[in-house]
Amino acid sequence: MKVWRVSSTQPSEESLLEAAQALKSGRLVAFPTETVYGLGANALDEAAVRRIFAAKGRPADNPLIVHIADLSQLPQVIDPHGVIPPAAKRLMEVFWPGPLTIILPVHPQLAPSVHPGMATVGVRIPNHPVAQKLLALAGCPVAAPSANKSGRPSPTTAMDVLEDMSLDLVEGDGVVDGGSCDVGVESTVIGFEEGKVVIYRPGGISQEQLEAQLDVPVLLDPHITLTSSSPSTTKRELERGPGNIEAGFAPRSPGMKYRHYAPKAQVWVWWGKPAQMKQRMMEFAANHADQELGLITQHPWGDCPGNVHCWAALGLAAGAGTGGAMDSDMVAGRGGVPGSESSLAAYTRILSRELYRLLREFDRHQVAHILIEGVPPTGLGLAVMNRLMKASEGRIERL
Ligand code: TXA
Ligand code: MG
Repeated sequence: MKVWRVSSTQPSEESLLEAAQALKSGRLVAFPTETVYGLGANALDEAAVRRIFAAKGRPADNPLIVHIADLSQLPQVIDPHGVIPPAAKRLMEVFWPGPLTIILPVHPQLAPSVHPGMATVGVRIPNHPVAQKLLALAGCPVAAPSANKSGRPSPTTAMDVLEDMSLDLVEGDGVVDGGSCDVGVESTVIGFEEGKVVIYRPGGISQEQLEAQLDVPVLLDPHITLTSSSPSTTKRELERGPGNIEAGFAPRSPGMKYRHYAPKAQVWVWWGKPAQMKQRMMEFAANHADQELGLITQHPWGDCPGNVHCWAALGLAAGAGTGGAMDSDMVAGRGGVPGSESSLAAYTRILSRELYRLLREFDRHQVAHILIEGVPPTGLGLAVMNRLMKASEGRIERL
């Protein structure tokens, strides 16, 4: 297995030629996108695609997203006789390249395992210089799920990919290291039902952004709320989708039914009134004083308890040094507050970008619990809270 280190902003053709050749010839190559790292295989090569499922330990009924370099490759992946709804064309124009996956009728030439038992395929053009150049050089459509073991947090750095995949990638395979991913949560997955756009997985493009471009309704699939079997006060808040869910009704996007994004530590989430949030977290820390805890908050705590490893998104985590050695490696958020972005919007964006990396980092430090300040489930916050709902198995409280 090889690791190719390339520039994240201006990768040269030479640096990507070998990886592109490997992809084209049926090897597995992990690469960065603007959302998370993908584990790629030539989408026309059934044997290569099957290796993705084996490497990830992915259930065989969960379809893969196919990535293309630009619109000229679209005819290679969608049914030449299929209908593309006008809303899909509009969204491609506005949001591609970008973190939006559109479900369309599938071309019969794609490897069957890409879309197990389905007449559709999820397609996206990623907006990352490395992904774009790699896909253009490979010249074939590339099936790529997130490059993590099934159920683990998605990888946002090449190191995360190696942590999960190094034993499964063999000679001829490789990882393109193009730095860390910017969006952090995966793409929004949408389909079309009876003239309406339905979000199957919230992600990097929000429901509000989609609505602003369309004159048809944009709904949330009801399964977006079914992320946990345990009762939760937040669940009602997330229940903005159409209708009720009948028992046994299968989600349109099979990925929504699996447990996901879970670190080894137990995750607990609070959101709502800042003073109450802090009080609850402090109480939790006091009740678990004999355990190491991880903490993710918007603003630094000046009085971080000794058993807690504190990470704050905004500003340097001043005063957080009481948590022990780890605090020095838990680099505080890189993000400032650009332009007029509110601090809640900045926190949501930074939490989205850093969440998976932090879950993995806290696991490496073997904390028993991770306490997280959540955000309102609107805009990008819906995708973040959806992932937190899964990571916490429903341990979310609204205050
Ligand atoms: O941001 C992303 O989307 C990343 C990067 C690598 O592009 N990829 C990613 O892939 O998250 P994956 O496999 O982890 O998630 C794909 C999701 C799953 O929930 C799957 O069920 C859904 O998309 N999906 C794929 N094809 C579909 C189809 N034809 N119909 C319905 N859902 C589909
Ligand atoms: Mg995934």
